[in-house]
Amino acid sequence: MPVPCVRVERERGETMRQRLDAADLLSETHDIAVDDGWLYIPVRDPDAVPTDVTVVEYDAPIRDTQTMPTDLLGFEPTYERLGDVVIIDEDDPERARTIADAIMDSDVRAATVVNKESKIKGEERVRDWSVLAGDGTETVHREYGAEFLLDLATVYFSPRLATERHRVIEQVVPGEHAFDMFAGVGPYAVPMAMHGAEVVATDINADAIEYLRENARRNGVEDRVTAYAGDVRDRVVEYENWADRLVMNLPHSADQFVDTAVELASDEAVVHFYDIQHEDDPYGPGERAIRTAAEPEYDVAIETRHEVRTYAPHEVNVVLDVRLTRR
Ligand SMILES: C[S@@+](CC[C@H](N)C(=O)[O-])C[C@H]1O[C@@H](n2cnc3c(N)ncnc32)[C@H](O)[C@@H]1O
Repeated sequence: MPVPCVRVERERGETMRQRLDAADLLSETHDIAVDDGWLYIPVRDPDAVPTDVTVVEYDAPIRDTQTMPTDLLGFEPTYERLGDVVIIDEDDPERARTIADAIMDSDVRAATVVNKESKIKGEERVRDWSVLAGDGTETVHREYGAEFLLDLATVYFSPRLATERHRVIEQVVPGEHAFDMFAGVGPYAVPMAMHGAEVVATDINADAIEYLRENARRNGVEDRVTAYAGDVRDRVVEYENWADRLVMNLPHSADQFVDTAVELASDEAVVHFYDIQHEDDPYGPGERAIRTAAEPEYDVAIETRHEVRTYAPHEVNVVLDVRLTRR
């Protein structure tokens, strides 16, 4: 059966394999294939592969030396990985335990298996987990050449947003002022600094800010990242008219912070505004909220309307890239 593979000229194969390995993208289930001068390198998550790399569907050979959870269970469990933590989402505790044991007994790289025990909740957007195998929920996640230490039990993190984060980070220009208003452990803030921005990051979750500072250090950009634990609204006085770029990744409630974003914005700023809305009008509420806050002081130009992912039936997670130009 065809699987997503990075296709690369044979002579560039090893460099590419190492690059994909560093980003934790190599498939655990299929082997690399050679065909007509091309190398086909199977990948775990095609959406997380950098955009300068070609991904195709190719019938790569199944790695038969590996024992997968399916081999032990007789059915295919659904799971995702974050660093060396494997995440499952099972309602039945017995089935969850069986799957966790099979994952640990298989060749899947896993230090811990956790089950989702609640939805993402509260101001800090953290969920409850049960640890079914291994111990500890702290792990290192790699994404587009950056690494992030985080503890799933105390901070928000979603590896599914890697492609979207990369889309934003690629727009960063060296020397610009970037303000990440809801920064978490820094998956926008740290790579923006790696792209040469001066970054200010805030989060109301003090644990997330501790990890963000550590992640800035790990990725060699601590001198370009200033991080504050607390409500972003408390930073307005200090950073009024400062930001050339604002990241607002707090879907569901970002509209309550557009006034703050406008106060932080410089004379020419881009706002990346994330929202979750009904599919019938996913962009309208965000656009109206931004226009109400910014006009007539600024000209408001919507540069991108982009669907990030489906969130729930009939609900979509979207982003608006909005340019504010002071009149
Ligand atoms: C959806 S998470 C996004 C985190 C990060 N940007 C990411 O992509 O992983 C939203 C974050 O906003 C933080 N937050 C919520 N209200 C806040 C506020 N008033 N000021 C600053 N941060 C806030 C939460 O603690 C949480 O870490």
